[in-house]
Parts: sequence; C-alpha cells; structure tokens
Amino acid sequence: MIYLDQAATSFPKPSEVIEAVGQALRNTPGSPGRSAHQGALAASHIIFEAREKIASFIGAEDSTQVIFTSGATESLNLVIMGLLNPGDRVIATHVEHNSVARPLEYLRKTREVKVVYAPCNEEGLVELETLERLIKEHKPRLLCVNLVSNVTGAIQPLAEILKIKGKSLVLVDAAQAVGHIPVDVTRWDIDFLAFSGHKGVFGPPGVGVLYIKPGRESELSPIKLGGTGSRSESLEAPEFLPDRFEPGTPNLCGIAGLSAGIDFIEETSLMKIHRHTTALADLFLEKIKDHPKIKIYGPKERIKAIPIVSINIEGLSPSEVALRLDKEFQVAVRPGLHCAPLAHKAIGTFPQGTVRFSFGYFNRVSEVEKAAEALLKIAA
Ligand SMILES: Cc1ncc(COP(=O)(O)O)c(C=O)c1O
Repeated sequence: MIYLDQAATSFPKPSEVIEAVGQALRNTPGSPGRSAHQGALAASHIIFEAREKIASFIGAEDSTQVIFTSGATESLNLVIMGLLNPGDRVIATHVEHNSVARPLEYLRKTREVKVVYAPCNEEGLVELETLERLIKEHKPRLLCVNLVSNVTGAIQPLAEILKIKGKSLVLVDAAQAVGHIPVDVTRWDIDFLAFSGHKGVFGPPGVGVLYIKPGRESELSPIKLGGTGSRSESLEAPEFLPDRFEPGTPNLCGIAGLSAGIDFIEETSLMKIHRHTTALADLFLEKIKDHPKIKIYGPKERIKAIPIVSINIEGLSPSEVALRLDKEFQVAVRPGLHCAPLAHKAIGTFPQGTVRFSFGYFNRVSEVEKAAEALLKIAA
C-alpha cells in the first residue's frame, strides 16, 4: 500500500518508537509517581525525560508546563472547557478542526459563551484585517488559532496574528504543525499550545501534549479529577503542575513512544524531514497541476503550506476518487470533510469535501509518482 494519509496519523513509525513502546511495556513494572520501588521510579524517569525533551523541542522554559494528555483533542478541550465562563467571548478562525469548534459550540449552548469565527480566504488563510477588526470589536477572552490546516496544509501567519491579538489569551492548535515546522512557545509568547503525539512527531496514538504558559494554569479549572500520586491526603486536586491536569495513571507506553519520536526528529533534523516531505508534495503537484479536470486547493505559494494537498476531480465525488485509489491502485488517502467542515466552507468545498493527500518522511519519490499517475488515470 502507498500510504498518503500522514495527516491522519504518521505511518510507519520509526523502529526506535516501536522499540521504546515495547521496552516500556516489557521492562517497567510500576506506575509512575505512585510507588517508590525501582520499577515505579524507572517509569517516573521515562515520563520525566519525555517531558524535558518535549519542553526543549517546543521551546518551553519549564518542563512542568508540559501536560500529557490523550491527544490534541483532550488538550484543546482542557483549555476551552477549563477556561471559558458564561458571557466570555471567543474568536476562532474559520479553518478550525472540530476538536476546537465542537467544544466552542457546546459552550455557546450551555454557558452562553459568544463565539465568532474570523473569515479565511479561498486559500484557507485568515484575513488579517478582518481578524483585527473583530478582535477590537469583541475583545475576546480567548483567540483560537489553527496553526496548520489539516485540510489544505495552510500555515497561518501566527506572528502577524500575535501582533493584533490585543489582550486575548491565545490557544494554538498545533496538531498538524509540530514535527513539520519549528515551534517556539516562549519566543511566540503564546498561552496554550496543543498537539497530538501520533502525527508529525511519530509517536503512537493515544498521547498528546498541552503546553501552558507559566502562570496561566491558575485561570484553568481542571476538567478531569482523580488520583495523582501526590498530596493524597487532600480530596482536592493539587494546585501545582503538571499534576493538576494529569489525574489518573499516565499512558507510559505512549509517552515513551512519543519521546522516542522526538529523538528521531532531533537525530534526523526537522529541516531534513521538512525538505523531503516538501519535495514530495511539490513533485506531486507538478505532475497533476495542469490536468483540466483536477482542482487543487490551499495556498498557491507552497511555502505557506505543509505537505498536504487537497484536490477534487470534476464530476467525481471525493469518496469515489479515494475508493478507486484504494481498490485499484492501493493508494491510501482521506476523502470528505476531515473533521473540519468550517475549513471546507472557507475554501468552497462544503459539503462534499476534498480528496486529501498527505506526505511523510518515509514516503518515497516512486510512491508519489505512482499516486500521481493513478490520480491522472482516474481523472482521464
Ligand atoms: C488540526 C487538528 N486539530 C486537532 C486534531 C485532533 O487530534 P487528535 O485526534 O489526535 O486528538 C486533528 C486531528 O486530525 C487536527 O488535524
């Protein structure tokens, strides 16, 4: 199979990741932070090391600000549900994933939170002037920014957005960004950043990260409560990080795998990964761009996108195209709305969606050539 669904989850995983998951499962007899025997200490050490590594990878000064979650969805929910009170105002972009839009819509109904979506152009990029006007008009408590679109790969101009954010707190959905472009939470001076472990950073599914800027934790109420192995005499959640937002036994194997994924990126170099995957997307685009029946979406200047290419073939539905790619050519892609209906409304592909090709470090040139040939045959 030619796997071009890397934006859904990266595949294959580096052997180091698989080994780290197995090691954690095989050789770590204990629950981190729970007991004081050697096995539990070894488990705690895996988590400590992973936290330090991730903090350094995303530019966080203090690793306790790195919270492990079950994925970007939980990280985003932790902020949205934990921060917003009745009457609060939020501005989000028109390319948000449902893991932002659904919690926001839920709060619109249940807590009378006011939600405004800032428009994006046909390329999926936010209209800065309108965003600035909306921020001045609504003075939102929270600004949600989808840093990289899972539909078009569009990279939002975060630096420009941060200049006009006013007093709002900023939550960055970096699910499709981390592992593709450099991320630096301290230089950007953002309040919250969420990402999954199983996409660009090569970890297993079921693990994710929320970065919280120092001091912002006091503005968030926990959305999950339970045992932390710390301050057990109290029936209240500890105030300190990371324990406040990490109740329950952590996903040791997932965290160990994520940690090995970060090592893999550091050893390979983010730049090398970026160059390879970008070259694959460029090659694919070069091969299909002149076909009269193929429409390509997303930023025209490819420097403004990560290696995701969304297309449609005139006269065929996205699911028909994806089905034929799978059955006739063994090419795996994702059709439809990609859990981001707002983004499809922005680029004019709602409700049918698009066919999304997403490229990863382990894809080869020959695979991309075959996928392009297959698409051209279907379009012929
Ligand atoms: C932009 C974006 N945000 C959030 C998510 C949610 O990630 P997860 O399903 O790993 O929690 C995804 C997943 O596809 C995504 O693409």
